[in-house]
Amino acid sequence: MRLAQVLTLLLFIRLTLVHGASSNAKHYIVYMGEHSHPNSESVISANHEMLASVTGSLEVAKEAALHHYSKSFRGFSAMLTPEQAKRVAESDGVVSVFESRTSKIHTTRTWNFLGIDSIQQYKQLQMDSSSNVIVGVIDSGIWPESESFSDQGFGPVPDKFKGECVTGEQFALSNCNRKIIGARYYFKGFEAEYGSLESQGGTFFRSARDSDGHGTHTASTVAGSVVANVSLLGMAGGTARGGAPSARLAIYKACWFGLCSDADVLLAMDDAISDGADILSLSLGPDPPQSIYFEDAISIGSFHAFQKGILVSCSAGNSFFPGTASNVAPWILTVAASSVDRIFKSNIYLGNSRILKGFSLNPLKMETSYGLIAGSAAAAKGVPPSNASFCKNNTLDATLIKGKIVVCTIETLTDNRREKSIFIRQGGGVGMILIDPLAKDIGFQFVVPGTVIGQEEAVLLQKYMETEKNPVAKIYPTITVLNTKPAPAVAGFSSMGPNIVTPEIIKPDITGPGLNILAAWSPVAIEASAERSVNYNIVSGTSMSCPHISAVAAIIKSIKPSWSPAAIKSAIMTTATALDNTKHLIGRQPFGNETTPFDYGSGHINPTAALEPGLIYDLDSTDIINFLCSIGASPAQLKNLTGQLTYCQNPPIPSYNLNYPSIGVSNMNGSLSVYRTVTYYGKDPTVYYAYVDHPVGVKVKVTPSKLCFTKTGEKMSFKVDFIPYMNSSGSFVFGALTWSNGIHKVRSPIGLNVLSV
Ligand SMILES: *[C@@H]1O[C@H](CO)[C@@H](O)[C@H](O)[C@H]1NC(C)=O
Ligand SMILES: *[C@@H]1O[C@H](CO)[C@@H](O)[C@H](O)[C@H]1NC(C)=O
Ligand SMILES: *[C@@H]1O[C@H](CO)[C@@H](O)[C@H](O)[C@H]1NC(C)=O
Ligand SMILES: *[C@@H]1O[C@H](CO)[C@@H](O)[C@H](O)[C@H]1NC(C)=O
Ligand SMILES: *[C@@H]1O[C@H](CO)[C@@H](O)[C@H](O)[C@H]1NC(C)=O
Ligand SMILES: *[C@@H]1O[C@H](CO)[C@@H](O)[C@H](O)[C@H]1NC(C)=O
Ligand SMILES: *[C@@H]1O[C@H](CO)[C@@H](O)[C@H](O)[C@H]1NC(C)=O
Repeated sequence: MRLAQVLTLLLFIRLTLVHGASSNAKHYIVYMGEHSHPNSESVISANHEMLASVTGSLEVAKEAALHHYSKSFRGFSAMLTPEQAKRVAESDGVVSVFESRTSKIHTTRTWNFLGIDSIQQYKQLQMDSSSNVIVGVIDSGIWPESESFSDQGFGPVPDKFKGECVTGEQFALSNCNRKIIGARYYFKGFEAEYGSLESQGGTFFRSARDSDGHGTHTASTVAGSVVANVSLLGMAGGTARGGAPSARLAIYKACWFGLCSDADVLLAMDDAISDGADILSLSLGPDPPQSIYFEDAISIGSFHAFQKGILVSCSAGNSFFPGTASNVAPWILTVAASSVDRIFKSNIYLGNSRILKGFSLNPLKMETSYGLIAGSAAAAKGVPPSNASFCKNNTLDATLIKGKIVVCTIETLTDNRREKSIFIRQGGGVGMILIDPLAKDIGFQFVVPGTVIGQEEAVLLQKYMETEKNPVAKIYPTITVLNTKPAPAVAGFSSMGPNIVTPEIIKPDITGPGLNILAAWSPVAIEASAERSVNYNIVSGTSMSCPHISAVAAIIKSIKPSWSPAAIKSAIMTTATALDNTKHLIGRQPFGNETTPFDYGSGHINPTAALEPGLIYDLDSTDIINFLCSIGASPAQLKNLTGQLTYCQNPPIPSYNLNYPSIGVSNMNGSLSVYRTVTYYGKDPTVYYAYVDHPVGVKVKVTPSKLCFTKTGEKMSFKVDFIPYMNSSGSFVFGALTWSNGIHKVRSPIGLNVLSV
């Protein structure tokens, strides 16, 4: 009788939970700030008790709780109704309660690539082979058998590493080694928000094993071992190598099918911080608009990492437009994407002997020429020609496209390009020419011979098709062209500033190679490689540039182990260049438009220079708090972020005086002075002189204009007076301040919004 009652009760609980989940229960993160409980068991039971006070029973509480954050900060996540969430928020010790949202990996799944190895300058860098720098990669897992993760020549796992090799589906202890020193995976948040992994209808492994390819690609870009003779289907052969080949990898799989639950990402960060990672690399982020730092999981997790001396490097996103950059907190290194000096040509040979320039990653050879037909001329019954021109599902007439090369156009920037080639193949088409002027630089892969053309070529092609009775063409397989100019150029998709949360911090911070990058891949992830199983793949996105920057950070950390995250960031930013290989300002694809620091921050990374920056702009979490105070953060907001009661100093230090390696003022009314402090990291006495590139309409004066250093570690402050004589009418004007001693150039971009003079 008693047992039956209990069973009934349990059944009832389950039903209410399931019912609750389908009606109004949502997945919430309950954040409780700095960690004070050493024993995680007691934290878990305290969490359950707190939850029980709003759910009514301990049993229900245990069912509702999903994650417990107990290592680097405190909190938990749980399925709650909004009313319950509100009551939990009122509990003692709770700092904030916010809904777990979804971040996305920052490569577009449909954008597929072909390629070659990392950029040339990395080859010159050597890292001490006894290096024990650990890079935590939060992503879609790893393909451990890839040659890129060979641990040949590595010493034992560093003592400081406290992580684990968590086993799971097709992932055994033996899948970790002296390169992949840790592997964990998180799925409860994803399943609470999207349903079971099984119900998603795709290939996956319930373990750290990567079925997506993305995590394998980013991890091998950071720290892949040197692997000779790598290529994608014979194209663009070369040596693959991570930026920091002797760094160790700790893998945290928190993304499934391209989606990452914030609650899972936060648990990965909690673990990674306490496991002993030195650098964290996150090629993922929320869709724009970026929410305020006080209610954003990655901002909160990375704040704790920053406090504990861990640099967090994040992708800025692939959202094309101004104001879309994500992960823009000043304690994060925010990475844009740019091209390298290499293109992949897949040209078109027309029946009139004319050759049109096309671009794609096309390994398929056409033996002969085939007839051409426009998608709009091959509309299926009842479909308007304009709809058919996009070559989407069920819009093309199979009898018309059979044996033909179909010419398609783009409906929106986010169209799934690869799918168009699948629909053409389905109808018996033999090739695709895609008119896509805005994205032709991105190396796509198609299931039939296919290539992408710009506007000029489209005009020529259309003219030929109109004037020729039986137009024919042949698509050539890809050839790789090296040493192209101008390069780098900012990728057209790379998310742009201004920083919509705190516009005085210029974001992104830096750019690195993110267009058509070859790195290790998961052989089961065939979608992104046009149904071909490959061990190395070429993909694009800020997801690909972020690990390049993380790698440089790892190298700096191995050489300067005592440097703070801000110092490493400063070294990377102040040594970057805003010029391309034609000595002009870096342009933006696809048309080479003029750029500003809102495209690339301080510029394109220069890894060699970043190792010897000369001067450093350092800052710590107290400076960050002062900054947030000055932009009006309330004690309640600061508590939401730091987890501790924090009061602002009165009057606050103006926000533009955060000792950031770039200089931004977002609302300037007349003249204004900005202060910075630099630390000297050279050896011998030296003198640095200030050089200013004036923003339009603003006079700039630096005092002192000369800094004499005698020994390493010495700090000196200076003042920058801005005297505007022209309104910038609501938009930013840009310049730069460079300190140079003739050997080192320490450059900070300047961005000013002059409201009045
Ligand atoms: C702190 O976070 C909570 C979410 O729990 C939010 O409702 C509240 O507005 C935040 N407080 C401030 C001052 O931003
Ligand atoms: C790479 O491939 C080339 C040509 O197939 C071969 O000559 C060379 O020995 C290979 N190198 C290595 C390191 O395997
Ligand atoms: C054609 O495209 C328009 C606009 O996208 C859409 O509203 C319409 O339903 C489409 N028609 C057919 C028949 O697919
Ligand atoms: C295309 O449409 C058919 C139904 O007409 C559907 O079964 C198929 O899943 C669609 N394919 C894609 C990739 O959307
Ligand atoms: C970029 O340049 C092209 C061609 O010169 C021009 O049509 C376009 O408007 C420019 N875009 C922006 C955002 O300035
Ligand atoms: C400049 O004036 C605007 C509008 O009055 C104000 O919002 C802003 O805070 C001022 N900026 C500074 C730096 O004082
Ligand atoms: C500057 O621009 C603002 C708004 O664009 C305007 O209100 C103000 O009068 C302008 N001031 C001068 C000096 O032109």
